[in-house]
Formats: sequence, structure tokens, C-alpha cells
Amino acid sequence: MSTQTGPRKHVTIHELRRMKESGDKIVMVTAYDATMARLVDAAEVDAVLVGDSLGMVFQGQDSTLPVTLDQMIYHSATVRRGLARASGRPHLVGDLPFGSYQASADEAVKAAMRLVAEGGVEAVKLEGGSDYVDVIRRIVRAGVPVMGHIGLTPQSIHKMGGYVVQGKDSEKAQQLLKDARALEAAGCYAVVLECIPVELARIITGQLGIPTIGIGAGPHCDGQVLVLTDLLGLDASFTPRFVKRFGEVGEAVRAAVAAYAGEVKAATFPDDAHSFHSSSVRLVPVAQEDDRDEEPHGGVMGAPV
Ligand code: KIV
Repeated sequence: MSTQTGPRKHVTIHELRRMKESGDKIVMVTAYDATMARLVDAAEVDAVLVGDSLGMVFQGQDSTLPVTLDQMIYHSATVRRGLARASGRPHLVGDLPFGSYQASADEAVKAAMRLVAEGGVEAVKLEGGSDYVDVIRRIVRAGVPVMGHIGLTPQSIHKMGGYVVQGKDSEKAQQLLKDARALEAAGCYAVVLECIPVELARIITGQLGIPTIGIGAGPHCDGQVLVLTDLLGLDASFTPRFVKRFGEVGEAVRAAVAAYAGEVKAATFPDDAHSFHSSSVRLVPVAQEDDRDEEPHGGVMGAPV
């Protein structure tokens, strides 16, 4: 593991490769808005993913399927601005949403280019294995780095029949290894391994020259990714095995808002320390509709406001 000193350089796809080679674990986390982007940058993560998980954790949808390319561009641009207000060091990846890359390589290239040009990401992630090598080749040829994503691929929820661990038998594990190698050969610079057995993730990681980033894939991947709202503990009811809550921010939010509500009800907020005063302002009472034809009351209010 290397120890870095001095100013922290922006993390490029080449730096991620170097990290794999030197055994430095890659830390990736999702973000969907400028405020959280600024905070995760300050926490010194290596990469930020604007995941289409935003459909579920931000929009309240049941799956990632309804997320549109325009929405991904919107959220990516907010995250890019948040990072620009912090160190700007993390590598920024954006998900190509369902329907933006499956129909044809031409459409995929156009979608990837919009996400880069309008959303400000430096790479795109797409779900799928060997079936997507042509699409990946075309996007990479257009100058856009591609991160692959295999194992549990939420955009294929209906095909998979649920959010279940993938590659548990030898045949399916073999296919996932084949997929991982095909993604590397097609030009992917990294690959997310989602919800696959630890043993399989270890073999794939050992066989690829590109970094593997795991979520629910055990400790042997070159890096890890978690959905930000999950690791923050924003939704106490969501407790899959692979998620560790590193904070209880949901409870902190509830408690803070309840404290605010309590003080408003008790009229103890705002107090003097949170209010403005002026010793010079004097107001002339404003005539009401009915008083228009009457003589103005005139006069100056005596007390400063
Ligand atoms: O959309 C997302 O957040 C993802 C991660 C879970 C890898 O794809």
C-alpha cells in the first residue's frame, strides 16, 4: 500500500489501475446532489458514482427502471458542481440508465456522450456482460471510458426474478467469469461485481488486469462501492446483508427536525440570537383597501422595528 503526501491529485482511470497494481483499495460511493458530493469529497473517497439507484433512494421508485437519461444528466451535473466546490479529486462516473444503451450501439454512444458533455462525468457505467461488448467497444472508441457491471444487475430485475445473489452454481459462476473477461477485452477500465459469492469475486479479481469494485461481493475486490443513503443509515428499514451502516444519519435527521418543530411550537425559535434588529427603520402605516378614499392616518410609527 502506498502512502501519499502533498496535494491530492485527481483520480483518473489510470490512477485506478495503478491502485489495483499497488494493492491500494479503491473507495467508491454514490452521490446524487451537490451537497452530498461536497461531503463525500471531503471524506476523501476515490470515486463517486451517480448511480441510477437514485430512482429508488431519491425518487422513491420501486426499481431503477423508470430513471431517464435526462434525470441522470441533471443529477450528474449537480454532483459535478458539488465536487468542483470541494477538492475535485474523486473520479466521477455516471450510470447509463435503462433504455439508453440496450437498443443499439449508436444510441448508446449518443447517450454516453450526453452524460459526459452535459452531466460532466468522466466515465459511464453500464450493466451487462458478453452481450454488450459491441456497445462497449463503440463507446470507448468514441472516447468515453466505460465501467462494466455484472452479477446482480438491477436493470434486469424482471429477468433475474428479484434482487438475488448471482453466480452461485458453477455454470453461472463460469459465465460471470467469461463476462468479466469479455468486458476487459472490450475496453472496460473497471468492473462492478454486485452480489456474487466471495470465492467467485476473488477469482475474477485475480484474473483481470482492470480493477474490480464490489458491492455484496466480499473483501477480495480491488475496491468497494456502497449506496450513500445505505451507509449513512438514512433508511432503517433497508437492511440487506451486504450493507453496513456506518452512521445513523436518518435518526440524526429525525431528531434535528423534531427539535426544530418543538422550538417553533414553543415559540422559542427564533430567539434574539437568530433575529435581526434595526434602530433606524420607521414605517408609515399602509392604507387598507377600504381606507383608500379616507384621509391618510399619516404619522410615523414610534417604535423602531
Ligand atoms: O446504481 C447504483 O448505485 C449502482 C451501485 C449499487 C453499484 O449501480
